[in-house]
Amino acid sequence: MSIYEIILQRRTIRKYKQRKIDKDILKKLINAARHAPSAANLQPLKYIIIDDPETVSKIFENVKWAVYIYPEGTPKEDEKPVAFIAVLIDKEIKSTGYELLDIGLAVQNIFLTACAEGIGTCLLAAINREKIISTLSIPENYTLNSLIALGYADEKPIAEECEDSIKYYKDQDGALHVPKRKLQDIIL
Ligand SMILES: Cc1cc2nc3c(=O)[nH]c(=O)nc-3n(C[C@H](O)[C@H](O)[C@H](O)COP(=O)(O)O)c2cc1C
Repeated sequence: MSIYEIILQRRTIRKYKQRKIDKDILKKLINAARHAPSAANLQPLKYIIIDDPETVSKIFENVKWAVYIYPEGTPKEDEKPVAFIAVLIDKEIKSTGYELLDIGLAVQNIFLTACAEGIGTCLLAAINREKIISTLSIPENYTLNSLIALGYADEKPIAEECEDSIKYYKDQDGALHVPKRKLQDIIL
């Protein structure tokens, strides 16, 4: 598959097979992030891999899924992520003010690499940072930006051209539809 095909195929996944992801694959995803562009090449991002079931459950309790269709988009017991990656900013590395751009680029590297492995991902920004920082004992010199939920994909969301709403929705068969603005509407 070409990179373009993977980009078009990748969708946010919120239903996961209950199959462990090999640690080497999780490290490969971070290695993809490591090679992302970074403002002034300062590389302020750090990551925590969470894949022990007990901590994964604790983290799961502190994230919010799919607000537009709540609670329909929340993974059920046998659909939960099997791992998370926490995305952190190291405050001891000089700030450029472009950390969020660095994050976007690094996270997409993770997403595309995961997608090519059949692993579904969901970026989670609606999280209880205080609880997660305490669960993971994250030291004060890091900012917890977001989490990435991971697991082998167990759903196939459908991207479609946006007509009047950008809100994703589920059809009567339970498939998730994700409206994307039309090409002619975004090229000015
Ligand atoms: C910055 C950011 C924060 C997000 N936070 C959440 C979140 O907290 N919970 C969630 O279920 N999805 C979250 N998402 C996933 C979006 O809902 C998803 O990307 C969007 O619906 C488009 O779907 P797609 O990724 O399949 O193209 C987030 C995405 C981004 C880029």
